[in-house]
Amino acid sequence: MSSTLVEQRRPTQSPQVDPSTLSNYQHFDVKHTSLSMYVDWENKKVNGLVNYQLNCKDTTTKVVLDSSFIDVHNVKINNEEARFFVGDRVEPLGSALTITSENIHEVIDLQVDFSTTDQCTALQWLDKEQTDGKVAPYLFSQSQAIHGRALFPCFDTPAIKSTYSMTISSKHNALASGVKATTTTTSEKTPAPHHSAEKDSAAEHYRYVQNVPIPSYLFAIASGDISAASIGPRSSVFSEPCKLQANKWEFEQDTEPMIQAAEKIVFDYEWKEYNSLVMPISFPYGGMEVPNCNLLNNTVVSGDRMNVNVVAHELAHSWSGNLVTNASWEHFWLNEGWTVYLERRILGLLNGESYRQFHAIIGWQDLETAVSNLTKSGNEGYTQLVVDLQNNQDPDDAFSTVPYEKGFNFLYMLENLLEGWDQFIPYYFKKFRYISLDSYQFKDTLYEYFTQQKDKLDSVDWDTWYYTPGLPPKPQFDTSLADACYKLADKWIEAAKSGKSENELVNEFSKTDLENWTTTQMGVFIDTVINEYEKLSTTTTEAVKAMNRVYSFASSNNAEVISRWYHLAIDAKLESQYKPLGNWLGGVGRMKFVRPGYKLLNKVDRQLALDTFKSNETLYHPICKAMVMKDLDI
Ligand code: BES
Ligand code: ZN
Repeated sequence: MSSTLVEQRRPTQSPQVDPSTLSNYQHFDVKHTSLSMYVDWENKKVNGLVNYQLNCKDTTTKVVLDSSFIDVHNVKINNEEARFFVGDRVEPLGSALTITSENIHEVIDLQVDFSTTDQCTALQWLDKEQTDGKVAPYLFSQSQAIHGRALFPCFDTPAIKSTYSMTISSKHNALASGVKATTTTTSEKTPAPHHSAEKDSAAEHYRYVQNVPIPSYLFAIASGDISAASIGPRSSVFSEPCKLQANKWEFEQDTEPMIQAAEKIVFDYEWKEYNSLVMPISFPYGGMEVPNCNLLNNTVVSGDRMNVNVVAHELAHSWSGNLVTNASWEHFWLNEGWTVYLERRILGLLNGESYRQFHAIIGWQDLETAVSNLTKSGNEGYTQLVVDLQNNQDPDDAFSTVPYEKGFNFLYMLENLLEGWDQFIPYYFKKFRYISLDSYQFKDTLYEYFTQQKDKLDSVDWDTWYYTPGLPPKPQFDTSLADACYKLADKWIEAAKSGKSENELVNEFSKTDLENWTTTQMGVFIDTVINEYEKLSTTTTEAVKAMNRVYSFASSNNAEVISRWYHLAIDAKLESQYKPLGNWLGGVGRMKFVRPGYKLLNKVDRQLALDTFKSNETLYHPICKAMVMKDLDI
């Protein structure tokens, strides 16, 4: 149909140059990266030494790396001191670290000695009082999308990949984005950064290797009172010891079957070990696909194994994102859309197609909300599948459900359109594994593979899918699992309209309405009620009070249920729930819950919102804190 715009915007060479880096990465291949990091718990900084083996692809007189709030002490090229300067800060990209030398030949060894600073956006330091066990302080990093440059100077673009050897020196157990190095691989001794001369004698060296090339945003460390339990033939779960048994129970049943399901859909898991680290409460995301050691938010552990779709999601990234990567954050849908697609294929394989369809329906609801919110706030551009991040736009600002769900819907449309789609999946992931691509290469690969179905591909409205803001066409999903939710929601809508009292309504409903429901079904039910109640002109307070008495949503253990309950309760102006919402916000750090929670509270009681934020400020991750401050106009 129409791909005029796509062809106009197609860069002369794909992948397109990443607008979110200040580095001159185009001139180099990174053959290997060795990184040693000394955790200075007392001063809350990391002293590090990073060593790059670079291939220069053309003649250049300088190497420009990304950095952000980093102190650079010394730079060497091929073991000789090199001139360097740190440029002025450009928001939100940071400061270019420019290194010049006559010594830049075809192959060079570049070494940078650096320290992080207290403005580091990639690290969170928790005092031991802020941890679950209160035994030791805790440190973790989170680099996606462009915070890797705050952890160490690097080509901070997903277009560049490298293998790694990593040494973390810390007083406490330390994990990193790789597998534990065996003694034979540790013979290569990583030199110590000069600022760590006064190192702690209690520090131990934890060595990891990552033999699959990965981009900078996937590098990660965590250190603290962390122990491990086996949850499968190639999997362990890590966490603070006091939560270990609960975490083991939550994940031991599903992890290995999910890996095997993914292997059937794509191809063998290439990273050897598949471990998960359950994070302290301040972790700002639901999960993060750190290679070999996925990070999971503590809210995923609800004691009912009901949130394991997050495991399926982060696991799926082992193919989409970690093997095959978006070449810039403008093409983020290639990471997340593909991952949601695989996540749902995994769930479908294990629990049945109706289950996959059900998750697609929830995804659609989320997409509608995201599109409407972004449009209202004047950020329509971020509802495009391919976004524009030119002119120093912040990928954190562009982040939303859209690349996830519009991306999923795009792939789901292609699945239904093309014959032999399932065979295309391994083809695509083999073709691009270990490298990065953009949306133009994705389109080309479809044409390359489906030569017999060119007409069908021509019928796709590429321009609209890629560049038009707003919702895509809504597919017909199988609603068999959702129907029960809609049916019960209808009853509660009638109940609110009836004008009956709380006591009267309590008698009309029963706890058994939700018998055998998954929490996802409860989520769809509550979301539907929220949407419909918003449209009503009558008050919904009595109905909402009755609902909680019948179903006890307020005392659920599942954050997916609690967060929705508060949404419903605040919309209905249930004052008795304002304080409990404030208290709940003091115990969660996941942005998905924290940000909407504060927005709700702010709407009904700004002072309470501000006070709550003030007393919990140190709990939140720097990124989460910044976002909430923006949301609350602080
Ligand atoms: N990679 C993302 C998290 C992320 C995205 C961190 C962008 C920083 C910048 C992760 O895989 C993810 O999507 N997490 C979701 C899980 C959900 C979709 C199951 C989350 O955090 O909610
Ligand atoms: Zn993801």
